[in-house]
Amino acid sequence: MRFPGAHILSVTQFERADVERIFEVADSMRPYAHRERMTKVLDGAILGNMFFEPSTRTRVSFGCAFNLLGGEVRETTDIKASSLTKGESLYDTGRVMSGYSDIIVMRHPQAGSVAEFAKASRVPVLNAGDGPNEHPSQALLDLYTIKKELKSRQQTIDGMHIAMIGDLKHGRTVHSLSKLVSLYKKVKFTLISPRELAMPAGIVEDLRRCGHEVVETEDMESGLVSNDIVYLTRIQEERFASKPEADLYRGRFRLNQSIYTQYCQPNTVIMHPLPRDSRDDANELDNDLNQHPSLAIFRQTDNGVLVRMALFALTLDVCEQIDKSSREVNWYTERRF
Ligand code: CP
Repeated sequence: MRFPGAHILSVTQFERADVERIFEVADSMRPYAHRERMTKVLDGAILGNMFFEPSTRTRVSFGCAFNLLGGEVRETTDIKASSLTKGESLYDTGRVMSGYSDIIVMRHPQAGSVAEFAKASRVPVLNAGDGPNEHPSQALLDLYTIKKELKSRQQTIDGMHIAMIGDLKHGRTVHSLSKLVSLYKKVKFTLISPRELAMPAGIVEDLRRCGHEVVETEDMESGLVSNDIVYLTRIQEERFASKPEADLYRGRFRLNQSIYTQYCQPNTVIMHPLPRDSRDDANELDNDLNQHPSLAIFRQTDNGVLVRMALFALTLDVCEQIDKSSREVNWYTERRF
């Protein structure tokens, strides 16, 4: 695909070479994300960071990524504080906001909303999650993390075994990640969920059509065996008609140290898009795994900055100028871990 000026709305826009290009640029962002060097390549540029649904890491890491490239961030974080609540359309909002920004990141609770907004935007729009539909930058950072974790084990994405666990019906991260992984070869997917929260049939069919093996099960113990990656997800309470309905599924599948040791092969990488639900009745990924070397959840969140910097650099076409406008930072930068 041609990146400069492009909207990033769905992972289905990408071919494998595009994903590899994003990862190559993400690698080059490491000195900036790690505060060894700084760049002002986006000096004067404005990001409209529009989040009409709760977010911690996506909103802040997109903002940090833009700041690390030297740009300014304008936040819109509450749907009630925007004129959408007065009946303004997404189209009008997109047209207006694109006059105030050089690029826009948007999250919204409705599937397809970001694409509708993007139709009116005169600047690139990056989808930060549209309801249960897609979360492209999360899928990219997840796959980037998978690639790094597997490489350290002398393995590749081609041929890997991945188990996805939890609310696969409503989880946009697993929708986008499955579609992105389908660009690779001979992957085995084990999809572990309550039957009512299974992965949408269309996604499963597409995976099989692309030559991947897909096993769907409600039995977590047998599903955990022989994976390279286990990717847990939260019950997406906000997508259910009522809390009692979500309560039916909360806590059904949990991974902790004891279950990991009993069923997973040693070194299986543990991933979660976060937030994990750490309340007692949920706890799908227990804190007793926090010090486990195969727990990659905080490497995922760190990698999110690299991947989001890469998306900005590619869509605003500054990749070749970054190093030219860079210098060492002035402050103490060593991190404790
Ligand atoms: N993974 C993710 O989308 O997290 P936030 O909801 O905190 O942005």
